[in-house]
Amino acid sequence: MTTADSRRADYPIDPLFLQRWSPRSFTGAPISEHDLMTILEAARLAPSAFNAQPWRFVYARRDTEHWPKLLGLLTESNRLWARNASALVILVSKTTVLRRGAEREAPSWSHSLDAGAAWLSLALQAQLSGWAAHGMVGFDRDRAVTTLGVPDGYRVEAAIAIGRRGDKSLLPESLQAREQPNDRVPLAQLVHEGGFDAAKS
Ligand SMILES: Cc1cc2nc3c(=O)[nH]c(=O)nc-3n(C[C@H](O)[C@H](O)[C@H](O)COP(=O)(O)O)c2cc1C
Repeated sequence: MTTADSRRADYPIDPLFLQRWSPRSFTGAPISEHDLMTILEAARLAPSAFNAQPWRFVYARRDTEHWPKLLGLLTESNRLWARNASALVILVSKTTVLRRGAEREAPSWSHSLDAGAAWLSLALQAQLSGWAAHGMVGFDRDRAVTTLGVPDGYRVEAAIAIGRRGDKSLLPESLQAREQPNDRVPLAQLVHEGGFDAAKS
């Protein structure tokens, strides 16, 4: 099974999963608050343990006063291309949860996993809406805490660039060769029937 892009699936999944990938070439087109909120709305509806919804989204749209603050958190190599994105989001998760009936918050086992679910919902909605999202760990997480005023009890998880996919010629030459969907390990190497098969690790 093939798509217009180079990715293949061995089982009949929805083309959405094949078509989503993380570009670096963005056009710099402005994104409206409404379009950005549409993408974040999908993230809000992600599932989470105890329905704790631990995700928080600190964002800046380009050409706003907040943009330089978020862009300045990225590593130089990410800033090189993400400066042409339309919005930047810093994904933060709450590390404790108030379980039903409990009086006090307790450490959450799954806050990062839950935030990851929100990230993928965001990325897929972006794809469906004609935008593209690119996750990043390459940013100064300590400085994000202070610059963005993230309180204790929250973990800074990832940065996300959202934009309109551009032509690879918009990128510095050093990045142009990587501007295409990459491959995946075959499913057979990842699935372990009935128990972990160390030979596959
Ligand atoms: C949490 C997370 C952090 C990432 N960090 C970076 C990053 O700092 N810089 C970068 O260029 N790409 C980054 N990526 C993009 C990955 O390299 C990319 O998702 C992976 O190669 C799979 O490609 P695809 O998203 O195009 O399918 C990150 C992706 C995720 C999910």
